[in-house]
Amino acid sequence: MSEILTSDQVVMCHGERFRIYLDRETIAERVREIGRTISEEYAGKQPILIGVLNGSFMFIADLMRAITIDCEIDFLKLSSYGAEKVSSGNVEELKKIDAKLKDRHVIIVEDIVDTGLSMKYMMDRLDAYEPASLRTATLLHKYEATREEVQLDYVGFRIENLFVIGYGLDYGQIARNLPHIYILDESA
Ligand code: IMP
Repeated sequence: MSEILTSDQVVMCHGERFRIYLDRETIAERVREIGRTISEEYAGKQPILIGVLNGSFMFIADLMRAITIDCEIDFLKLSSYGAEKVSSGNVEELKKIDAKLKDRHVIIVEDIVDTGLSMKYMMDRLDAYEPASLRTATLLHKYEATREEVQLDYVGFRIENLFVIGYGLDYGQIARNLPHIYILDESA
């Protein structure tokens, strides 16, 4: 039997209850808006989107389809959470970027910024390649949890400081396939 039990409004994941927070239409509309903005701001610049694996794969796929100008994609994989709900504070690089970023217009694409540690790490890391410009996009921002000073250029939603799953975001590697975003139900 699957570990994820879903009724659309509520899902159980690893024995914990999550309630629906952002439905797929709300997410899709916001992603389309960000795509439109990037298309306008980067016209003639052929930006390269750098997705942070694994969590950003769904967001970056939808965002790229919402961008109407020429653009490229590559991925970097970081690990900081393991199977826990709280950041370990350590960032490890598990897959490196293949593309050449010097003099390119680079946009880092994250699923969520929590403490900001991963985004800060990415900014410092990619800045060293001397890109023509470096901006960031994140679908979610847990602004109350952010300890690092990070530059966030495109933010989908500013959200509560609670654990979320779905639309690419996992809890112990499951729940990424949920089409909506769910938040930990503390009242349960
Ligand atoms: P940060 O380095 O603390 O900002 O954490 C960023 C990474 O932690 C994200 O890219 C996610 O992979 C993961 N993460 C942070 N908050 C959550 C959450 O609420 N649900 C699932 N993953 C999360």
